[in-house]
Amino acid sequence: MKEEVLLLGLDISTTSAKALLIDTTGNVVSSVSTPLTLSTPFPLWSEQHPEDWWNGIITSVQQALSDAGATGSAVASIGLTGQMHGLVLLDENGHVLRPAILWNDQRTASQCDQIRELIGKKDLLQTSGNDAVTGLTAPKILWVRENEPEAYAKVRQILLPKDYIRFRLTGDYSTDKAGAAGTLLFDLKQRSWSDDILMKLQIPNEWLPPTHEGPEVTGRISSEAAQKTGLTKGTPVVAGGSDQSAQAIGMGAIRPGIIALTLGTSGVVFASTNKPVIEPNGLLHAFCHAIPERWHLMGVMLSAAGSLQWYHDAVFPEMEFSNLLTEAEKIPAGSEGLIFLPYLSGERTPHPDPLARGAFIGLTIRHTRAHMTRAVLEGVSFGLRDGFELLKSTGIGEVKQVRVSGGGAKSSLWRNILSSVLNLEFVTVNTTEGAAYGAALLAGVGIDIWPNVDDAVNATIVLGDSSKPETKMVAEYEYYYQVYKQMYPTLKDLFPLLARTSEE
Ligand code: XUL
Repeated sequence: MKEEVLLLGLDISTTSAKALLIDTTGNVVSSVSTPLTLSTPFPLWSEQHPEDWWNGIITSVQQALSDAGATGSAVASIGLTGQMHGLVLLDENGHVLRPAILWNDQRTASQCDQIRELIGKKDLLQTSGNDAVTGLTAPKILWVRENEPEAYAKVRQILLPKDYIRFRLTGDYSTDKAGAAGTLLFDLKQRSWSDDILMKLQIPNEWLPPTHEGPEVTGRISSEAAQKTGLTKGTPVVAGGSDQSAQAIGMGAIRPGIIALTLGTSGVVFASTNKPVIEPNGLLHAFCHAIPERWHLMGVMLSAAGSLQWYHDAVFPEMEFSNLLTEAEKIPAGSEGLIFLPYLSGERTPHPDPLARGAFIGLTIRHTRAHMTRAVLEGVSFGLRDGFELLKSTGIGEVKQVRVSGGGAKSSLWRNILSSVLNLEFVTVNTTEGAAYGAALLAGVGIDIWPNVDDAVNATIVLGDSSKPETKMVAEYEYYYQVYKQMYPTLKDLFPLLARTSEE
């Protein structure tokens, strides 16, 4: 019997190392996620060990092949995706020099100030499309230079998380243009490293890997990786994309007019553009897409479904999520005057402030657990609307539809709330495998299963459930959103006083 042709998407997210196998009609054949842990050795820090990613990928790939009843030779092509901005530093022998510093690490406020000073905020925005914010890679590099000079002296290679896995799989140093654009060292319009930024920050060009468009083959599975994973030596590995660009591909949100909204640990509003568009104050990210000649704008809130996860784990760990959500359904829109501020890990969009803090505001003795749960869902939705308003302000044109994904999107209550907060139709899609699915489609385009990403998406993605705004709820939420918007400016000067212990 002729063996089936499979495509493999690998995703190094913050919470798991995932392997997804699809066939060439887009059907999911198997999907395995190996959990990853996060280390927070000091307040504001967030780190992971690259070796843990690699071990997680080995486990997931082996299991995904076994679940599919397939051998490595069935896998025709592999696509990589993963968490953006993380800093992996290697020495001359390819050994990891320190734990990776992740996208949600907030230790680099002073390095961001330095970068703005060295380059000038306007020039930085014009070249990279972005302001210096703590999440991005460049300030992390400066932090290591300042604080760990011994490790820094040994650096010979800088990689992003998924590209460390590429290195372990193929032995090559390479990255994709979407991921590279998230380092702050990239020229958004030229789609290449910025010599100017690198020179001003005194970071050697040769430490950075070559960059490729998402569907391009960057290397092939080595014999060592084949032996460890069960994949076949010589199998092509394509560049893939950042988790956000791959997620948008996996949702079919790759053209202007369709917004991808992700309710994962972080919450993302994502708009594809046919040319580079920059938000004039740098309040949105402007990055390359994983699709050639396409770009995207993006607002990122740091604790979206992460807020609900925290609320459950810290406050009501004994409750099932589904029971928490069911009781919240009975509470009226606006949670009877209770508002949740979702800045549990500081914030990025629209308030780039590592010291921003979460809060319940408006508590009375009338409020119950159900009110608090609903307020969390609503507060996150208001935060996402902030990002959405910024997207609209850049003149991206009419938004026709929002495609929603991520763990939080499984809740129809949350989708309904979001639809009324944004006053737009929300749809789900047939695939719930997110970024790994997009990476698998890029892998397919890389070996001409589909001629381009648009055809891959048209062949595989089908729309699912729809949530439409409810007129009464839209009006209620408009009122509460206007109140919500005033809360951060009112409280922001108090937050640093609360962060005092983190500074000591
Ligand atoms: C995007 C970002 C996060 C990570 C999550 O800018 O920082 O969404 O990519 O994995």
